[in-house]
This record gives sequence, C-alpha cells and structure tokens, in this order.
Amino acid sequence: MTIDAKHVLVAVAWPYAQGPLHLGHIAGAYLPPDIFARYHRAIGNRVLMVSGSDVHGTPIAVKAEAEGVTPQEVVDRYHPEFLGYWDTLGISFDLFTTTGTENHRRVAQEFFLRLLERGYLYRKTVEQFYDEQERKFLPDRFIEGTCPDCGHTDARGDQCDNCGHTLDPVDLVDPRSKLSNSTPVLRETEHYYWKLSDFTGPLQEWLETKKGWRSHVLNFARGMVDGGLQDRAFTRDLEWGIPLPLDDLSPGKSIYVWWEALMGYYSAPQEWAQLRGEPEAWKAWWKEADAESYYFVGKDNVPFHSVYWPALLMAHGDLNLPTDVPANQYLMVGGRKASKSMGVGRSLAWYLEHLEADALRYAVAASFPENNDADLDNEEISRRINGELVANWGNLVNRVVSMTNRYFDGRVPNPGELDDEDEALLSAVDRTIVEVGNLIEQVRLRAGLSAAMAGAQEVNQYLSSRQPWKTASEDPERTATTLWSAASAIVGLAAVFGPYLPFTSRQVLSKFGIEVPESGPRWERSGISIGTELGDADPLFSKVEFGGDDV
Ligand code: MF3
Ligand code: ZN
Repeated sequence: MTIDAKHVLVAVAWPYAQGPLHLGHIAGAYLPPDIFARYHRAIGNRVLMVSGSDVHGTPIAVKAEAEGVTPQEVVDRYHPEFLGYWDTLGISFDLFTTTGTENHRRVAQEFFLRLLERGYLYRKTVEQFYDEQERKFLPDRFIEGTCPDCGHTDARGDQCDNCGHTLDPVDLVDPRSKLSNSTPVLRETEHYYWKLSDFTGPLQEWLETKKGWRSHVLNFARGMVDGGLQDRAFTRDLEWGIPLPLDDLSPGKSIYVWWEALMGYYSAPQEWAQLRGEPEAWKAWWKEADAESYYFVGKDNVPFHSVYWPALLMAHGDLNLPTDVPANQYLMVGGRKASKSMGVGRSLAWYLEHLEADALRYAVAASFPENNDADLDNEEISRRINGELVANWGNLVNRVVSMTNRYFDGRVPNPGELDDEDEALLSAVDRTIVEVGNLIEQVRLRAGLSAAMAGAQEVNQYLSSRQPWKTASEDPERTATTLWSAASAIVGLAAVFGPYLPFTSRQVLSKFGIEVPESGPRWERSGISIGTELGDADPLFSKVEFGGDDV
C-alpha cells in the first residue's frame, strides 16, 4: 500500500469518431491504460483516466463528404459505439467525452490565446493546395499523394502511414484532391503559425531525462527533434473544427485538429472536475509537481505525444509535462497490420460477440506489441484462452472450490498449523504481488501478466504435490490446511489478476467472501474468513471454439 497517494493522470489517445475500432486499437491504446489505471487504483493512488472522441478535422469531414451526411451525423454514430465497447470490455474511463463540448472549445481557444500572448503564434501567408472544381482549400486528408520521405504512393496530407512521418500537404509529390480527384493548384492563404522551432533545444534537454522510456518511442522522438523542428501551421482552412477566438483572418478557419485534440488531455480533467462539482479538482493532476502522467497511444501517434504535445505544454507553461509515453507498436493479424479498413482482422464487435470480455482481455494483453509488432490470429487467441487461461488459472479456482465443496461441505476449513511448504506457497504469492506491481509500474504489462500466470502455476504445483484428493479420506486436517492455503493463494492472485481480468477477479474474490471496493480489488492477499460458504463451482471461463470460417 502506498502511504502517500500519488496523482496519476492516465491519458488515452482520442479515437477519431469516424469508424469502428478493431483489435489493433484495443491492443495499441485502450486496454493497456485500463490495466495501468486499475493497478494504480488498487494501490490507493488517485487516478484520473480520460479520453474522448476526436470529432473534428478532415478525418471526420472526409468521411461525411464520402457518405453525403453531415460530420455531426458521423460523430453521432461512432461516439455511442465507442462507449459501448468500453462498457463491454470494462475499459474504466473516469471520463470519456468528446472534443465537441463547450468546455473543450473554451479550453482550446484559451490555449490558443495564451500561445499568442506568449509570442509563439504569428501570422503568415502561404501557398496551399486548392481544388478549383470544388472551390475549396484541401487541408490534410482532403489530399493524397506520394510521400516525400519514403515514396509511399498513398500518403495522406497529414501523415504517411508507411513511414509514420507527419507531413504538410504541400510536401506531397503528385498530389490529388480527395474531393474531385483532380490535380490541385497552389493558392495563397493566411494562417497562424506556431514557433515550434523555438522548442528544439528545450525538447532535446527534456528527452535527455527520459532514459527509461521504451526505446522505440525515445528513438523516434530524438530522431525528430535532432533533425531540428520547423514551425507548423496552427490553423486550417476548414469549417469543421474549433473556430479561432479572433476574427483577424478570413472566415472559415479552425484550429488544426491535432493541436486541439491534444488539448483534450487538459480540457477533459476540467470537465470531469465540473461534473463532480469540484471545479478546481483537476489541478492536482496538472499543476502539482509530483503528479505523474502517462500517455497511452499507438505507434502512429508517437510524434504527437512525445514531441508536439510536450512542446505545446512548454509553450503554454505552468503545466506538467508527460512522465512517460508508453506507446505500443502494431498488432498484426496473420502477419499484416490489423486494420478494419484494410480488411485484415475482424471487427471488434465480432470479437466481443464471440469471446467473454476477460478472455479477450487476456489474449490481447498476453500479446501486447510493447516493444515490437506482435501477431495475434484466432488460433493464437484460442491457444491462449484454452491452453493458458482456462487450463491454468480457471481450472485452479474451479478445483479448489469443488474440492472444498466435496470434502468440507462447501465451507472454507480451519487450516490449523501451516508447515514450511504451505508457508512457502503463501510467500511465493506475496512475492508475485510485489513483482507484478513493479512490472505494471514500469508499464511492462505483458511481463506482469505472465508473472501472474506463473504464480497460478505455482499453486497448481503445490496442489499436485499435496494431493488433497488423496489425503481427503485419511488425513482431513492436512487436507484442510492444503485447501485453505490454496484458497488464500487464489485470493492473492485474484487481486493480481484484477487489473487484467476485472470481471472474473471480482467474481473470485466475492466467492471467497472478500469484499471488493467499487474501485476494484486492493493490491493485497486478503484474509479469508474460516467458514465462508463458497457456493457452486461455476467455471470462470469457457473454452473457445472458433468455427472453420472464423480462424
Ligand atoms: N484521433 C487520433 C487518432 O485516432 C488520435 C488523437 S490523440 C489526441 O489517431 F490526444 F491527440 F487526441
Ligand atoms: Zn512515408
């Protein structure tokens, strides 16, 4: 247990509300923060886990255009869908809002004015691509072409999916308009520019202090900054977004969606605080020097969270910089990047229909692409669930409950005196609790899960050695000690599995009579009361069988 509770901001990438999510999103950005947040709640820290739908910019506008509906209609379709995923999968946001709120608009506009006041924004007339047929400027995703860095022919105006570099539409080779497919022309337009170049040095120094970061994140960030940062446009010729809080440019401009979406990490805690009726409460996460903040994002978001967002925060001043950006790499399905649009992997809804939430969480967490891309196909999912989760942890709980039912009338027996082997089991569990906690604190979630499973394996070995099914007839006292010890071990491990398998861990703990706070199990091996009635041995997880077409 921590003595001084820490404030931990768990900041989660804001998904564009323009399409369903797939397993890659869950593995990349949504399940890791939930595990991390649940652990910090369990040790008594003050966690604030926030995110929301990213509703502005060309990603939404392009989709709306393609479907002939309004951008808001697109948002209204996907935002509720996201909330449903979180509910089914147990992703425990303290607030999952949208960038379309009044609060967010105010915060983003104030942020803009603050940068202006501090001298980090200036006006500049530049040439941008313009579609003469449609009579519109073509910001970001309204344009596609060849990446100037890697030659990928389908790079978008804002970022190349192939090399991950962020782009300015005018950099594209052979640009084409998404609206009319015509070749755009250059035309003058005035924008606010951000003096990002001022932050090259400060970011370099700051990154020097981040030696513990994942190397793929640190290397990418350093590579970007060492190359020298150039000023970036802060605004766009686009109606669908947050309007500028000034009218000194021609109409129809908005704040660039990325800058404004990043500010969501700062606006959402304020909304959360207002909703709780303690409007100042967010400050503990943003202004207290010892508060920590962790940004959970996928690989393609690394530049924005490890470089641009810290630079925006430096430009703002008086706000905490990220403690860590534990970004994940890509989850591959059968050797290709999981992505619904590319027809690889099934929809998340499909997985949620076919698998229990904790079973899916297990299979995905066991394959988190933390340092390298990882592969997860349905064969691997069923091997993980049937061969590990059910065989090791599920069966362990089941066996101990059913033997207690059989030999002790379903009540936790009085253990009497423990011998060395019993004590060794309990110390092993206590060590596992510490070990997994350390791993989760370092955001080594995959290693944490395998350490928890190794803990369950040790209890299985203890049972094989003690053989309560054999001692039951001639030595009830020994059998009682064994089953009590195994039950105590299970209770400790259920706490450790809590962040990973929240639904079934709660079930296990309540079965053994442990009261679980609403925020989740405490990070400890709770004491079991002798005589607790266990009830039936219902299997914790079912085995999965994917049909022929499903694999
Ligand atoms: N909407 C972006 C994406 O899906 C992520 C935005 S994260 C934010 O890639 F914090 F900047 F909003
Ligand atoms: Zn590229």
